[in-house]
Amino acid sequence: MNQEFNVWKVRQDFPMLRQLMHGRPFIYLDSAATTQKPQIVINAMSDFYAKHYATVNRSVYDFASKASSHYNNIVRQKVKGFLNAAFVEEIIFTKSTTEAMNLVAHCLGKLYLQPGDEVLISEMEHHSNIIPWYMCCKERGAHLKVIPVNESGELIFEEFQTLLSDKTKIVSIVHMSNVLGTINPIAEIVKEAHAKGAKVVVDGAQSAPHMLIDVQKLGVDFYAFSAHKMYGPTGLGVLYGKRSLLEIMPPYQGGGDMVDEVAFDRITYQEPPLKFEAGTPMIAEVMGLGAALNYMEAIDQRLIAAWEKDLLEYATQRLIEIKGLKIIGTAKQKGPILSFSIDGFHPLDLATLLDLRGIAIRTGRLCAQPILKRYHVSSLLRISLAFYNTFEEIDIFIHALKEALLLLKPEISY
Ligand SMILES: Cc1ncc(COP(=O)(O)O)c(C=O)c1O
Repeated sequence: MNQEFNVWKVRQDFPMLRQLMHGRPFIYLDSAATTQKPQIVINAMSDFYAKHYATVNRSVYDFASKASSHYNNIVRQKVKGFLNAAFVEEIIFTKSTTEAMNLVAHCLGKLYLQPGDEVLISEMEHHSNIIPWYMCCKERGAHLKVIPVNESGELIFEEFQTLLSDKTKIVSIVHMSNVLGTINPIAEIVKEAHAKGAKVVVDGAQSAPHMLIDVQKLGVDFYAFSAHKMYGPTGLGVLYGKRSLLEIMPPYQGGGDMVDEVAFDRITYQEPPLKFEAGTPMIAEVMGLGAALNYMEAIDQRLIAAWEKDLLEYATQRLIEIKGLKIIGTAKQKGPILSFSIDGFHPLDLATLLDLRGIAIRTGRLCAQPILKRYHVSSLLRISLAFYNTFEEIDIFIHALKEALLLLKPEISY
């Protein structure tokens, strides 16, 4: 067990973790959906609104130039450091991972995809890394190819190598699956894809909160994540893109701030990143993300990862005690996500009973229908852990789950 990490101290930073749900201490096991927010993030946003609020990248007055400087020179720079990007111009603020993936599919698709070309994704993708490519392939006359996963939820690498060909123009892949928890070997995928001349796009929505990310080391062309899954605000995502590609890609949306000269017959665009940030951006949210990154940095991501690994191991051991319970996703490399089904029980019934005990878990199709189909299930239960979770919470959850099973089927003993 990790000795250096003080979870009780950390928990004091999260006001939601002091709340009651149905009169019970709130046990939050749904961080893969969205994480709770530390007070420092809430304060950064309310302070900005109360004491520093102004627009960015447009006006010269003091508050506006200070807000612009914070937005570009502090937070954008901080994100560059967080991802170890080579240039600050490679960091684009979007609405979410979803919007980032749509941006790349739209703009890269226009630039690269010709009829007959292929885009490779995997069977474990979230809908936001399936649908934009499906739409883009339909539009461009390209084909969407899918890399299968094995029974334990690992990408079948040989199948990837077989599917990869001179026709492959883009490989778009999740770093950590939101269903299986599987961590994919991105650097190896990039090596193979680049050897065929394909670009690699990575959905980092689940990996960014749990791992140290180095886009240069991984060699990826694009990498996206959402602020709200890493202790920051909703409504904000980040897209990293290699500068050489961003420079030649067409813009995504048109509007204020992304243009240089506008006439009715001719428009010239700003350089990246502003070329991809049309309209007034999510200013307070960017301030919030800056605070969230400071917060994570102060705790130390290595300690976070070690604590979460211990929690995952413990939760896995406790879950498999339960008769008829099947964990979906047992890859060797996995993050703190546990999806499971229990023979003879509907996930919704169990989640409803857990809710009454103050326990928040996710159920349903997890925005990833194809991977559920792969395991012949139409719905799953999922717990997803973050560094603010405790071993005691896992014990309470297991106890409540066993009680729920007994309540629904008293004839079976657990
Ligand atoms: C793996 C993965 N990709 C993409 C997304 C989409 O993130 P957002 O809804 O913040 O755009 C999610 C959200 O759950 C996810 O888990």
